[in-house]
Amino acid sequence: MKKFQVITLFPDMLSGVFGSSMLWKAQKDGFVELSTINLREFGLGPRRQVDDTPYGGGDGMLLMIEPLWRAVEAAKANDPDARVVLLTPRGERWQQAMAQEHSETDHGYIFICGRYEGVDERITKLVDIELSIGDYVLTGGELAAMTVIDSVVRLIPGVLGGAESAIIESFSDGETLEYPQYTRPESFRGMHVPDVLLSGNHGEIAKWRTDNSQKITDK
Ligand code: 6GU
Repeated sequence: MKKFQVITLFPDMLSGVFGSSMLWKAQKDGFVELSTINLREFGLGPRRQVDDTPYGGGDGMLLMIEPLWRAVEAAKANDPDARVVLLTPRGERWQQAMAQEHSETDHGYIFICGRYEGVDERITKLVDIELSIGDYVLTGGELAAMTVIDSVVRLIPGVLGGAESAIIESFSDGETLEYPQYTRPESFRGMHVPDVLLSGNHGEIAKWRTDNSQKITDK
């Protein structure tokens, strides 16, 4: 079972996402194990300090090396083969093809959620992969970790059931084609479902969907 461990100062941010919908079901069905490690538990001194001001001056606080290092060691003790991912705006941009690759590996992942001011650079000694989810700045890596984990777990074979997995399989590059979809009612406040979708003509429907499709990578 693939383990995803997230080192964070804000484990509550992840509990709702891990406890809902597809990520919850993937755990219940035994495909993955999702957990958080509270960096605060590795803080220094009676106040469990985890951050400090940067050498050389500058605004903001950095996550200190020692608590981070110990947290990564604790995560590795749970999963010695795991790859360590640092979430940072300077990382490689996350893409669907990367989600596909990481869903097929036979090891787990340890995510380090940086905060926006940054982390002590020496942590990179323990880091295998640096990832960003896009060209904007988040206050911390937690939202990025959830995004990456969601996009990987849904691609693990067996996690999605029935119809959805069939759609993915029919585009083996893993990039779902997106076309407009409708469900009941046929007419709502003057807006009608396209006639072809009600026609029962599967050939025509398939053609309409292809004509009206966009690949994720087109965006
Ligand atoms: Cl991974 N972290 C932060 N703090 N901001 C981001 C990001 C990550 N990806 C895009 N913006």
